[in-house]
Amino acid sequence: MPGFEVIDEKEKKAISRIFDEGKVFFAHGFDKKRKHYHVREFEQKLKTVFSPQVADTLCVSSGTAAIKVALKALGIGRGDQVITQSFNFIATVEAIVDTGATVIFTDVDDTLNMNPKNLESLITKKTKAIIPVHMLGVPSDMITINRIGKRNKIPVIEDACEAIGAKVQGKYVGGLSEFGVFSFDFGKMITTGEGGALFSKRKSDGKNARMYHDHGHKNIPNLPRGLDRAGSIGFNYRMTEISGAFGKVQLEKFPRILRESQRRYITLEKYIKNKQIKFRHVNSGNEPNYDTFVVSIEDKKLRNKVIGLLNKAGFGTKNLPDAFNWHCAYFWEHVDKKIRNKEVTNCYNRLLKCIAIPILVSRPIIDYKNIASNINECS
Ligand SMILES: Cc1ncc(COP(=O)(O)O)c(C=O)c1O
Repeated sequence: MPGFEVIDEKEKKAISRIFDEGKVFFAHGFDKKRKHYHVREFEQKLKTVFSPQVADTLCVSSGTAAIKVALKALGIGRGDQVITQSFNFIATVEAIVDTGATVIFTDVDDTLNMNPKNLESLITKKTKAIIPVHMLGVPSDMITINRIGKRNKIPVIEDACEAIGAKVQGKYVGGLSEFGVFSFDFGKMITTGEGGALFSKRKSDGKNARMYHDHGHKNIPNLPRGLDRAGSIGFNYRMTEISGAFGKVQLEKFPRILRESQRRYITLEKYIKNKQIKFRHVNSGNEPNYDTFVVSIEDKKLRNKVIGLLNKAGFGTKNLPDAFNWHCAYFWEHVDKKIRNKEVTNCYNRLLKCIAIPILVSRPIIDYKNIASNINECS
């Protein structure tokens, strides 16, 4: 969440510098007019920080676009099935549906992300991709999910839109599978207003993704763009130079964002002592990005009291239960009329008991200490 909270003169200067340095807002060409290729530089920086081992990092216009580009790079379309989880954001599902493929939903485990056992039982000959989603900054069980993907020869696309900075066994999410996806929309830990990035582990996938996001352009070096030939059918999911320049500044602020978020998250973890309140499970060896602190409360009366306290203190409850219907497949009858199957209903019942406490770096730590002690007093 905090990306927007730390915007200051630095982002403003970075954008106004584009005006001073040739006014080129397009990521490609205009070589003689420009001093920078901001989008390309942002891509390189993201790769260096988060996943030097991947073959390619591509910036695109949104996280939704990044998922769609990954699916298209794999050639996924009508007749194929893509498995994702019931606790999700509608964008992931929209990207799948937009390719013509069918969405299959898994249940969630104690991390509230994809349940690997359930995943395995849902794989068919038609399954062409698996999309685990690190919801609200907590990593999915990527070790098991990647193993299942490999065993069945099905590529995995990590939806890390909400989890930039989270780690699995010391490695950043987003670079752990065939593809990884980030969002830089206005609610994310790093924002460019709107924007996204796609990490491709395999060179051929990276090449396909780059072509698809830019009308099929091969972008052959030293060839004028107008003479460049299409390597595939494509679309326009390009990022603008404004977002690229903005993103570079936000990335420099990221260590502070992460550190300050962690301090607030740890305060809640330390000071909430009410035994009726269970903390969301994080698998051993994994680390969240401290974007949101999720708790589960069985007793409805207590739950409502805690929700009331959070609203009164101005924190709100992010998407649990705020905006719950945008984040749980149980509500998505517009995607599939028979959506309320066993997996989706199990997930709904679990999420119904959860509350998401947003971590805001603009709120002092004492606010988190106070809300924890108010919550402790509830019964
Ligand atoms: C899990 C998840 N996937 C995908 C997206 C889509 O990202 P964007 O808003 O950049 O299109 C989001 C955005 O909220 C998200 O939370």
